Amino acid sequence: MDINSYSTWLEIDLNAIRHNVAYIKDLTGVEVMAVIKANGYGHGARPAAQAAVQGGATWCGVARIEEALALRRAGIACKLVVLGYTPPSKIPEAIDQQIVVSLIDPELTHSYFEFARINGGILKAHVKVETGMGRLGMLPKDVLPFVKSLRGGPISVEGIFTHFAQADDPDSDYTRKQIRVFNQLLVELESAGLKPPVVHAANSAAVFNYPEAHYNLVRPGNAIFGMSPSQQTPLGPEFKPALMWKARLISVRGYPAGSGISYGSKYITSAQERIGVMPIGYGDGFRRIDNQEVLVDGKRVKVVGRVCMDQCMLQLDAVPGAKVGDEVVLIGTQGSETISVDEVAARWSTINYEVVCGLADRLPRIYLE
Ligand SMILES: Cc1ncc(COP(=O)(O)O)c(C=O)c1O
Repeated sequence: MDINSYSTWLEIDLNAIRHNVAYIKDLTGVEVMAVIKANGYGHGARPAAQAAVQGGATWCGVARIEEALALRRAGIACKLVVLGYTPPSKIPEAIDQQIVVSLIDPELTHSYFEFARINGGILKAHVKVETGMGRLGMLPKDVLPFVKSLRGGPISVEGIFTHFAQADDPDSDYTRKQIRVFNQLLVELESAGLKPPVVHAANSAAVFNYPEAHYNLVRPGNAIFGMSPSQQTPLGPEFKPALMWKARLISVRGYPAGSGISYGSKYITSAQERIGVMPIGYGDGFRRIDNQEVLVDGKRVKVVGRVCMDQCMLQLDAVPGAKVGDEVVLIGTQGSETISVDEVAARWSTINYEVVCGLADRLPRIYLE
């Protein structure tokens, strides 16, 4: 692919994903489920899944059945789990495509049961247990009778899992309590001879902070893309960020003092100024806020004036050599300067997850091997 033919693009380093997955696998010593929902956290679901599998992931986790089906259609053959809600009418496709669904409540499971019976075949499932996330899942006290009731039917319970609400706090009594509740349930299931073989709980933060919750499968998303789970749980230097966001200057022009720049003319040049245009705006997932910076010629330059849907303007006085066609870095490194996805997230008053998930589909993704 010819990068010169793009005015903006995402560069995604598949080796970084392979490396990060392999590192987590080594660190934990258990199987890895790469969580690649929301288009692989914006990195592209299929290439991310493929790289994760090459790095040693034996499972991929998604939020919706449509995501799982798209991965199957794209030839991803590993074990696939839908971690969220699956509509009952999709159960036949889940069975046909060997997609594991999550059982989040008894009534819904009953509908799955009906669809599975009519379709024929066995639906593979993991029971989701609500231990304190306050989101989805069976209450611990209901799980044993529930699992018992499924014996001999068309739903095969192959796994059980829970999700942590505060695992990014390395010293969280709340998480320890969630682990205790989950462990207690596992003991009950074991005594009744009903413990499912696959047990998982750890998102990226818990991979690092709660090794006692690794069980026999961990479930990281953010860390496989080289992003820190939170400020309290920064990734070490052994992790490699997988994504850079780049663009080219498409115009560079001198404006006399007193010129208005962009909608509302909120920025007025105070002297003769060199203003560049980069072809990125809120239509690409770049926030429409003030005081943003990007890199040009290895230096930080300011975004000036309102961010438009498809363009925004840069103050280029600090980089007198900058010219049309030069590379701009919004996320990533240029020379000795870096703008991390965490810096952008802080600027946008959000978390790095939201930054990458918001990268628009229209941004070309260039995959580096
Ligand atoms: C159920 C579940 N497991 C695992 C993950 C992965 O979390 P993280 O990206 O923090 O590793 C998520 C992400 O939100 C999730 O919803």
